[in-house]
Amino acid sequence: MTAGKLMAVLRGGRFVPPPVWLMRQAGRYLPEYRKVRATTSSFLEFCYTPDKATEVTLQPIRRFDLDAAIIFSDILVVPDALGQKVWFAEGEGPKLEPLKDPAEFGKLSRARLPEHLAPVYAALRATRASLPSNKALLGFAGAPFTLACYMIEGGGSRDFAMTKRWAYQHPESFGLLIDLLVDAVVDHLGHQVEAGADAVQLFDSWAGVLPESELFRWSVQPMQRIAQRLREKHDVPVIAFPRAVGPAILMYRRITEFAALSIDTGIGAHWVANELQPHVALQGNLDPIMLVAGGRALEAEARRILNKLGGGRFVFNLGHGIVPQTPPDHVARLVEIVRGWKPGA
Ligand code: CP3
Repeated sequence: MTAGKLMAVLRGGRFVPPPVWLMRQAGRYLPEYRKVRATTSSFLEFCYTPDKATEVTLQPIRRFDLDAAIIFSDILVVPDALGQKVWFAEGEGPKLEPLKDPAEFGKLSRARLPEHLAPVYAALRATRASLPSNKALLGFAGAPFTLACYMIEGGGSRDFAMTKRWAYQHPESFGLLIDLLVDAVVDHLGHQVEAGADAVQLFDSWAGVLPESELFRWSVQPMQRIAQRLREKHDVPVIAFPRAVGPAILMYRRITEFAALSIDTGIGAHWVANELQPHVALQGNLDPIMLVAGGRALEAEARRILNKLGGGRFVFNLGHGIVPQTPPDHVARLVEIVRGWKPGA
C-alpha cells in the first residue's frame, strides 16, 4: 500500500511533520482553476466533464505539492443523481427544487446513480493515473443530514429550520429520507473506491445546527452506517467531518469505523488533543481566514496547532474550506511552515 503519508496516518501511524491537504484546495482562489472553469457555464456540467475535473483536481498538487488530491466534484451530485433538480445560480450558490413532503420521495431513485455519476468515476481513474503514488486520492460525499438540509430547504440557509422541524415533527418520514441517502452515499462512495479513491471523507457540514439530543440519530448513526457498509466491501479509511458540533464531537470519537475526525475551527486544539486524539486520528483545524490574512498571524496559528496536535496522529488541514479571497502565496507559505515544523522547536 503506497499513497504516502496521509494513508499511513489514516491506517494508524504518525508522521513528523504531518501530511497536509486543504479542504476546497481546488477552487476559485487559483487563477488556473478560473481559467478551466470559464470554459463551462454550468457548474454541474463542469463537475461531469472528466478531463476538466481531473485537471483542476491535479492543479493544487502541482502548485503546492500537497499530500492528497480530493476529487473535484460536489456533495450535491448525489441529489442530482437521485432525480432532484439541482442547479448553481451564479454568485448565489446551490439551488434545488425543494422536497416539500414525503409523497415526493417517490420521485427519488438510486437506479440511475452509477450511470449518472460515471463521469465522476472516470475523473477519479484519470486522476489516479496521473497522480504520483505517494499522494493519496480522496473521494467524498455529503453526509445524509447535510444532504437532507439542502434537499428540503432548496439551497443554503442560515439555520435549516424547515429541515429540523420536519425531523422533529415527523421523525419516521425524515428517517426514510436519511435511509435513502445512506444507501445512495454507500453506492457513490463504493464506486469512488472502485475507481481509485484511497480514502473517503464524509462532510456533515450542517450537523452543528442540531441539538446534542438529535445528533446521534441524524448525524453519528447515518455516518457510522455508511462507514460500516463501505468497510464490509472495501478496506478504505473513512474521515468524518461533523462541523460545528462543539463538545458533542465526543460522541464520534469511539466510532471505530471512522479512521479520522476532521475538526472545525471553533474547537480548541488543546482540548481535542486530550479528549479525541488518544482515540482517533485528527485533521484540521486552521481557520480559513488565517489563510486569507497570512503573515505572522498565519505563522503563529499554524505553529500553535502543530505544537498541540503534530506529535500525535494528525493531518494538517483547515477547519472548513478555502475561501475565494485566499492569496495562493499564503497557501504556499503554509505548506512551507508545516513541512519545516519540528516538535519542541
Ligand atoms: O477541492 C475540493 O475540496 C473538492 C471539491 C469540492 C467542492 N465542493 C467544489 C465546489 C468539495 C469537497 C465540495 C463539498 C461541498 N459542496 C460541501 C461540503 C463542504 C463545506 O464547504 O461545508 C458543501 C456544503 C457543498 C455545496 C456547495 N457547492 C456550496 C454551498 C457551493 C457554493 C459555495 C461557493 O463557494 O460558491 C458549492 C459550489 C462549489 N463547489 C464551488 C466549488 C469549487 C464553487 C463554484 C464555482 O467554482 O463556480
